[in-house]
Amino acid sequence: MFREWIFSLIVASCTKGALSNSLLAPCKIEDEDCVRNSVNAAIPKILQGIPELGVETSDPLFLEKIEGNLSILKYKFYNTTIIGYKDCAVTNLKTSPDLSSVHYVLNCPKFKLSGQYDISGRLIILPVEGNGDYELVTGKYKIDVDSDLKIHTGSDGKTYLSIKNFKLKCKALTPILFDFKNLFNGQKDLSDAVHKFANENWPEVAELVQDPTFYACMNKITRNVNKYLKTVPLDDFKLN
Ligand SMILES: *[C@@H]1O[C@H](CO)[C@@H](O)[C@H](O)[C@H]1NC(C)=O
Ligand SMILES: *[C@@H]1O[C@H](CO)[C@@H](O)[C@H](O)[C@H]1NC(C)=O
Repeated sequence: MFREWIFSLIVASCTKGALSNSLLAPCKIEDEDCVRNSVNAAIPKILQGIPELGVETSDPLFLEKIEGNLSILKYKFYNTTIIGYKDCAVTNLKTSPDLSSVHYVLNCPKFKLSGQYDISGRLIILPVEGNGDYELVTGKYKIDVDSDLKIHTGSDGKTYLSIKNFKLKCKALTPILFDFKNLFNGQKDLSDAVHKFANENWPEVAELVQDPTFYACMNKITRNVNKYLKTVPLDDFKLN
């Protein structure tokens, strides 16, 4: 028992030491270039998941249910797999000197979502109804993120950082391909009309439907990142 305990302690401290060195290079908070480079280098590694630390993968990201309750359109996405977050690059990163908030822009080249859907309502001007398999392939996205951060003391007496909340401003920059199987119970004319409309009017359609999906994704990613941050004391990546 005791031997096992010592063993896990050694494994835990080695893993933590190695990770804090390799994932977030230490920076002074006011050194914006250093912080941006450190975050950009760490993002793909944190988002791909770290099973030893209980950090689930964020790319692919799996969401059992996404619910969009919009005034004119209700949609549910089930068992959705989202690919693309680990290719997003962070720019315009600004951290408040006391580490209580952070602003940054995520520049994402492409997202691919696939799963099952259930939709009913109006897509701007066209009625839309159906359920089945769906796939969405976006082009470039620009996502403005504002987050409050929190510093707290762990049971080991060290301080840790976590992300408290976030606000997003999402903008599609290039066309999106919409593919919803079995719209209108498979009536081809009606389904073709909706697809044509959505593919041609992607900026307006994205603007209408995107927020519930991006918030659901960011919620899960934030939980994953916070799990990671819980394993790295602030002093391991903050110089001052
Ligand atoms: C959407 O509306 C349904 C039915 O009114 C409600 O049960 C559900 O909690 C709402 N979901 C969200 C994410 O607001
Ligand atoms: C989602 O996946 C689960 C587990 O595979 C399955 O039981 C469920 O029916 C799926 N949901 C939909 C709407 O297909």
